[in-house]
Amino acid sequence: MKMNVLVVGGGGREHALVWKLAQSPHVERLLCAPGNAGIEKLAECHAVAADDVAGLVALAERENIDLTIVGPEAPLTLGIADAFAARALRLFGPDQAAAQLEGSKAFCKEILDAAGAPTAAWGRYDDPAAAHARIDELDTPVVVKADGLAAGKGVVVATTREEAHRAIDEIMVARTYGDAGAAVVIEEFLPGEEASFIALTDGHTVLALASSQDHKRIGDGDTGPNTGGMGAYSPAAVVTPEIHEQVVRGVLEPVVAALRERGIVYRGVLYAGLMIHEGRARVLEFHVRFGDPECQPLMMRLRGDLVDLCLAVIEERLHEVEIEWDERAAACVVLAARGYPENPEKGVPIFGLERAAQRHDTVVFHAGTRRTAEGQVLTSGGRVLGVTALDETIGSAVRRAYAAISDLSFDGAQWRRDIGHRAARAAGR
Ligand code: AMP
Ligand code: GLY
Repeated sequence: MKMNVLVVGGGGREHALVWKLAQSPHVERLLCAPGNAGIEKLAECHAVAADDVAGLVALAERENIDLTIVGPEAPLTLGIADAFAARALRLFGPDQAAAQLEGSKAFCKEILDAAGAPTAAWGRYDDPAAAHARIDELDTPVVVKADGLAAGKGVVVATTREEAHRAIDEIMVARTYGDAGAAVVIEEFLPGEEASFIALTDGHTVLALASSQDHKRIGDGDTGPNTGGMGAYSPAAVVTPEIHEQVVRGVLEPVVAALRERGIVYRGVLYAGLMIHEGRARVLEFHVRFGDPECQPLMMRLRGDLVDLCLAVIEERLHEVEIEWDERAAACVVLAARGYPENPEKGVPIFGLERAAQRHDTVVFHAGTRRTAEGQVLTSGGRVLGVTALDETIGSAVRRAYAAISDLSFDGAQWRRDIGHRAARAAGR
């Protein structure tokens, strides 16, 4: 059956999803809301914001959409899956109750504990005085998190008590992240190496995707402030077969079962942020959608059809499915705007896109870009482009991505020079 497919979002992750869907024999028309300057070459873009749930329902009804795939977490936590279900519209992504796994850190920790899954010791405080008092009892480093969604921010790894006290005041008293700071979670600091573990689940079966890893800090050598992610690669050697088994059997399957016990059937992407130390994985957090930029290397490695995978999740047939991956490695290097992550500069012209597009096994995924009426592509967000390449090893895939970056330029562009460094070093190449 041929389908009209709508992708919700307008970042690099959504460009990668659209790029993959554009190759699907199931797709009749491909739409995206709101999209960006790269997506509009592959899909009809509609100016509806990703968190405008009512607007997206109206768009899907008007355009006879058969399948909607949601990129970012915001519409999921706002209940887009419930709104679409109420209109009998098919949508890939968890419902509002399930999306609380990302929308509330305290809910996430409760479910982890109910599932017996390994995670940092924690407590939730909705009174600043109680939170401050707790800090005085704990050793440092200690981690302070806004309970709600803070767009990837709102987490402070405090090395001193003063820093932790300040974080509580910023989150709960100054309300830097708005209502997300009505409560904080204070948790034990976990040492180790971070990894992303991204799976599909239909509420019964858990099907892991290929392993991947992102780079969260802005600067080379993992320095400077946290970002949404400055690059990513797949596979990630830190996810050994033993870690894989621990996470599927000891985390994801019990978490899906614990949710089901509460009447929540989780259908969609389930992404565990892990800390791996001495051969043991513990969970830092969950995301209820694909990682950005992890999605970019994953979509380049995915063989087989994304529509088929989404339908298997929605129809609770995931046990029937096997996923095939390109044997090669993929790496994505993000070009960010000057001032990212605090205050990115916008409206800067981007050069070299046509030249970079000629390169073999390389795709320049757009994130924060827009096209003017005259056809000039300008920056319009913090992360601007995600240059992604396939090659035999992580090291050679990264080199291929950097070669394409030499074609590209915009004033103030910043990118990391060491994407994949750990993986490449571990493999001796
Ligand atoms: P989160 O949004 O919860 O993943 O936190 C953002 C980042 O803060 C993570 O990617 C980690 O680098 C760090 N982080 C969060 N929780 C902890 C923890 N308990 N121990 C150490 N680092 C943490
Ligand atoms: N790359 C981390 C995230 O998608 O949240």
